[in-house]
Amino acid sequence: MSISPRFLDDIRGRLTLSEVIGKHVKVTRAGREHKACCPFHKEKTPSFTINDQKQFYHCFGCGAHGDVIGFRMQHDNLSFVEAIESLSAQAGLKMPTPDPAFVQKEQHDKGVYELVEEASKWFQTQLSETSHKDVLEYMVKRGIRHSSIESFRIGYAPPDGQALRSFLRERGFSDQQMIEAGILRASNKEKGEPYSFFRDRVIFPVADRRGRVVAFGGRVLPENMRPPQQGDFVPPKYINSSDTPLFHKGRMLFGESHARQATRDGHTPIVVEGYLDVIACHQAGLQGAIAPLGTAMTEDQIMLLWGIIPAADKEEGKVPVLCFDGDNAGRRAAERACERIIPLLKPNHSVLLAFLPEGEDPDSFLKSRGKQAFVDQLKNAQALSDFIWDMTLGAHDYSTPESRAGLEKRLYQVAGRIQDESVQHHYRSVFKSKLWEYFRRSSQNSAQSFSRGKSGKNLERRIPLSRPALSKENNAQDMNLSIALATLINHPFLIQEMLERLEPLMPLESKMLGISDSMLEWSHEKEGFSENSLDSEALKYHLNQAGLESLLENLLHARVYAHASFAQVSASEEKARQGLNEMIGRIESAQLENDLKVAQQELRETFSPESEARVMEVRRLLEERQRILSGDQVA
Ligand code: UTP
Ligand code: MN
Repeated sequence: MSISPRFLDDIRGRLTLSEVIGKHVKVTRAGREHKACCPFHKEKTPSFTINDQKQFYHCFGCGAHGDVIGFRMQHDNLSFVEAIESLSAQAGLKMPTPDPAFVQKEQHDKGVYELVEEASKWFQTQLSETSHKDVLEYMVKRGIRHSSIESFRIGYAPPDGQALRSFLRERGFSDQQMIEAGILRASNKEKGEPYSFFRDRVIFPVADRRGRVVAFGGRVLPENMRPPQQGDFVPPKYINSSDTPLFHKGRMLFGESHARQATRDGHTPIVVEGYLDVIACHQAGLQGAIAPLGTAMTEDQIMLLWGIIPAADKEEGKVPVLCFDGDNAGRRAAERACERIIPLLKPNHSVLLAFLPEGEDPDSFLKSRGKQAFVDQLKNAQALSDFIWDMTLGAHDYSTPESRAGLEKRLYQVAGRIQDESVQHHYRSVFKSKLWEYFRRSSQNSAQSFSRGKSGKNLERRIPLSRPALSKENNAQDMNLSIALATLINHPFLIQEMLERLEPLMPLESKMLGISDSMLEWSHEKEGFSENSLDSEALKYHLNQAGLESLLENLLHARVYAHASFAQVSASEEKARQGLNEMIGRIESAQLENDLKVAQQELRETFSPESEARVMEVRRLLEERQRILSGDQVA
């Protein structure tokens, strides 16, 4: 209907927003605004503000936002036109005469809603008929509670193809309307009567976001409850209403209206596969459960999922959890969902992926293992970036530079599909760190197994036994650490290569750890940019900002440079790298010597086989180190 903007302004002008809202919740004045406990989510302290002058409300808790018309729509579940009707009466205004085509469409839609609602009620009564007691028993045996049957309005469509039709005809609905609403099918026989689409099936009504039934899903009864099969036709387990003017499969989710309410109360949306999974989750107290209708997730459904999480929760990192079977089909379904989601990612908009053990769906898992086990599975859900990494990595061998470059290319291609620039940038950074970490490990592994023979043990980076305490004896070690850090600050391109080696060598109580943490963080932020962006001045600025000013001053001091000219800004790249490499080697050796002392001390005190083994191990490492330093590495 064409309602003029002027008419809308008239309504807004005549009504005071805080008064309209004040009819539903207690509103108090706060300066130029009004405050209230939000009518759209549960809260004890008011985060809902109303600004009468600007004619809008905003909730800092759940993000609800709108004007007087929006309030009416949201609060009373009204359509735009219905809200205006109600408000214009309140404002003493007469509704403009609507455009006839619009009225016709509205009335038509209203008719279809009514029809589907009547059908839904009829299915419900059928399930409670004594003649269909066995169906109800089957539902109960499957673990569906009576309360769920009520709240999900589960019903039964009997085998008779004409019963629903005559019921609805008596109520004044035409065959044409029933066909349009997807509950009747035109016969393909000549002069054949139209017949019910759902026959001898358990009925799950599908409601829209406002809770109005718009479609149905129908499940076959188990074989022992159906008449013997004719021919080799096997009926599909589920059938769903086809798309109608009110129902677009790809734009709706089963359980949406329940989940909308639940997410306002703090629940997390959990996407499961089927009707019975949603119901089982609800029964376990997980009211955010929701399912697509027998299809893979569409873009619309993904946007819808993000939309039902209150804004404030999104800012705190709440995202929907997608739940999949642990088998190959489940993995593939997860991959397909990710393909859809990746381009749509935005700041604070992502998903987690949970995989159930093979052969289980949430319904069966909850039955066999209970709620806590299921919640634990959800808690272990994987971040999207981790899933993409695993998926792209696959089971290939990345020992050659070419295969590594191939992996890098594939990952960056995935990141490149993210439309949001900032999220894209951070995906690149995450992939870059993962690649770096992965290749560093695998080359370390091969280097170690090479120099140590094929023992295959101790492949992880060795963490020192002890971190040296800060004492006078350690002054030399302290100076060496200062030199190493100063070199990194003046030559930040070496951070990624060297800092992880250096970091475990620093005394735990050392203030210098703050510097190394900040540096690592800064360099990770810079990943994905060219090496030129690893600028020393920018790093110093960052460290100053992090409150490390005086430490920095101590490090970048003539006293430090006096021991090592390679640490200075003016040193060449090559000289800095070589100098730092040697310096870290020296620190490592000193650390090992320290470890040896600690292990020997322990051996003296406990004399256990373990402490003896430790002394031997450290001694061996020390010897190996000295051999490497003296040049006869892996000959
Ligand atoms: P499932 O085959 O896993 O069924 O299909 P289910 O929901 O676990 O039901 P039970 O436990 O066997 O009784 C999962 C979902 O896929 C859709 C339905 O939405 C179903 O809930 N589906 C399945 C169809 O749309 N058509 C089918 O033929 C089968
Ligand atoms: Mn199932």
